[in-house]
Amino acid sequence: MDEDHARLEQAIEQAAEAPEAELPALHADLARELAAHFAREEDLMRVHDFPGLHCHMAQHRLIVEEARRPVAGGGAELRRHIGVHIAQLVESHVLTLDSITAAFIRGEFSPANFDNLRLPIEPAPR
Ligand SMILES: [Fe+2]
Repeated sequence: MDEDHARLEQAIEQAAEAPEAELPALHADLARELAAHFAREEDLMRVHDFPGLHCHMAQHRLIVEEARRPVAGGGAELRRHIGVHIAQLVESHVLTLDSITAAFIRGEFSPANFDNLRLPIEPAPR
């Protein structure tokens, strides 16, 4: 997962300096890579019976939705969308939900620590 995060960070940094003509493709690649990364992370959480799985997945869905959002206004707006909006969403996600998920997997938390992260109604496990 750390390698995935480093790859995402690199893709976001690339958008900061790429020519405007390359931004739409970088945007599409980043959104695709985010969705693939989140799917791998969700598989890992299922393997470890992570108690905050549904809350974590809900945040993944919101981030992917925002990452895929078409941006009007030209290259400068798209660069800002990638370098500010997507970058901040991903960074705050990594520092919050991802970090407590990793702590749980390392055995540093118990399921009771995640009671506030459960959705009121959670779907049955797959
Ligand atoms: Fe995550």
